[in-house]
Amino acid sequence: MKNSNFLFILIFVFSLSLFSLGCEKKEKEEVPIKTQSIKPKVDTKAEVEYTDGVPKYKARKIIVPPRPKSVRLDFTTNNPLPKKYREIKTNPIIANQKNLDKGAKLYQSLCSTCHGAKAKGDGAAGEGLTPRPTDLYSLVIQPEATVGYLMWAITDGGKPFKSAMPSYKKLSKKKKQLLILHLRSMY
Ligand code: HEC
Repeated sequence: MKNSNFLFILIFVFSLSLFSLGCEKKEKEEVPIKTQSIKPKVDTKAEVEYTDGVPKYKARKIIVPPRPKSVRLDFTTNNPLPKKYREIKTNPIIANQKNLDKGAKLYQSLCSTCHGAKAKGDGAAGEGLTPRPTDLYSLVIQPEATVGYLMWAITDGGKPFKSAMPSYKKLSKKKKQLLILHLRSMY
């Protein structure tokens, strides 16, 4: 056998083995990833209704949705909130119809384009964004989503998390509280 022929066969066998190695790798990548199934939890939520300014409380059964995808929420599971926001525990705005209407109006004009009319994270302006706007409807029911957490997200925006969430530094505190009231009333 000629030397050049032998060399040709050697190169052929070598490239064949490289090719098969490549195939094996591809097959490995295609193994489906097991998705975690999260069962929705049933819980109760206290509701308040106002008749002539007199509050009446009642309990309502709700289905708690699975945790929404969010860079900020993931961060918060291992890190504390900035001190300024950690201390905000309650929303001083009273849940009467007038305030609820004001909050809903603010939400529709400022936030719905990205977060969607029903706050499910499906607004048209959010379609091309990475990460996508959060499903706020499901977020507000999560234990981490305290008033301080929501204030932090709305005031500072997504810059620290490299997301397109704008920072509403110039929006008054009262308007942010009205927005939070609206979001929490949606569920
Ligand atoms: C330009 C599109 C856009 C607009 C407008 C917008 N957001 Fe966002 N928002 C985002 C994106 C993107 C995120 C980040 C998602 C992530 O971190 O995974 C986000 C995150 C948030 C979060 C943090 C929740 C979390 O845990 O991720 C809150 C709260 C929020 N937005 C509320 C609002 C409110 C209230 C308004 C209106 C005043 C508003 N957003 C307007 C795009 C937008």
